[in-house]
Amino acid sequence: MAFNDILLRTMNGEKVERPPVWFMRQAGRYMDEYRAIRSKVSFLELCKSPELCTEVTLQPIRAFGFDNAILFSDILVPIEPMGVELDFNPAPVIANPVRTLADADKLREMDPEKDVPYVLETVRRLVKALDVPLIGFSGAPFTLACYMVEGSGSKNYEHIKTMIHTNPDAYRVMMEKLANSTLKYLQAQIDNGAHVVQMFDTWAGVVSPYDYEKFIFPYVKHIVDNIKGAPLIYFAKDSFSFFDIIGKLNCAGMGVDWKTRLTDADERLGKGKYVLQGNFDPVQLFGSKESIKETALKILDEGKDLKGHIFNLGHGILPPTPRENVDYLVKIVKGEA
Ligand code: CP3
Repeated sequence: MAFNDILLRTMNGEKVERPPVWFMRQAGRYMDEYRAIRSKVSFLELCKSPELCTEVTLQPIRAFGFDNAILFSDILVPIEPMGVELDFNPAPVIANPVRTLADADKLREMDPEKDVPYVLETVRRLVKALDVPLIGFSGAPFTLACYMVEGSGSKNYEHIKTMIHTNPDAYRVMMEKLANSTLKYLQAQIDNGAHVVQMFDTWAGVVSPYDYEKFIFPYVKHIVDNIKGAPLIYFAKDSFSFFDIIGKLNCAGMGVDWKTRLTDADERLGKGKYVLQGNFDPVQLFGSKESIKETALKILDEGKDLKGHIFNLGHGILPPTPRENVDYLVKIVKGEA
């Protein structure tokens, strides 16, 4: 089959026949095929097996015909070799959270070839197996730091916010190591064949715009300014209030969550500056076919006025999502339903 390059043409700002479509967390527990594999291994065992990761990455491409694959792994996989004791239950738990300058000093910068060779092996296998582009990914430094410091998900993020405002040296030492590790990790995925990379900043939106600008943005900018050889999409959830700051980044694409209109995002980021990705509410996939179509058509219509639009959800797909609705939404975007 010919290589489907609609995502790459869109990222280049070319006019395309329709938006490319993929969904964040498109491989996962909403699929029986995924659960069959997961019933035999733990999540971390799965993430460390190139054979199983390759298979799980391909499952949603076969099932729904997405226009690209996304590497199967987790944002926290590359922080384990930095010195954190990581487990998934299924949500992530870190047994030795980073709280002091001494803890931050002990963290090691990650070396992708040495520390996560299985991820790069998966990338190489996928690039050979696929006839669509492969998106590689990482967490952004602050989102990784949230798990490192809190030790799990969190309601108020009080440990990391306290560290920022009482122990800025510890925060800086940790963030510099995370930023350098993340840059090397994304670059290694590109060097091994990933066509596009996405950086997930899921928890950026928990801080004030003042703290985003001073304590998060510089590390994101360092990565964006130094990555070479493939376009980057930055996805900072809940961050519309500081899109004016984010709009200073020189990357190709920006993710938009479901609470923001694509046209408002474009306005605030800098009209026509970025290809935008989003922004269907993942929970609306529990809704009726009529409601799914009505919203999808509104999003497609807003997407027409942009530099480029990648149709996606506004956040990851949830495990109880009805599979037939995923199929239906992809068909709407492709003009087949
Ligand atoms: O998009 C894809 O298909 C690639 C796979 C992928 C996973 N995690 C697999 C996963 C990606 C891109 C991620 C990113 C990720 N992981 C983020 C950023 C995006 C987002 O969703 O905000 C974050 C914050 C994490 C951290 C994480 N990993 C959480 C909070 C959880 C538990 C929540 C849950 O879904 O249960 C995970 C576990 C995880 N990562 C699973 C999968 C398929 C479920 C593990 C299982 O099979 O038991």
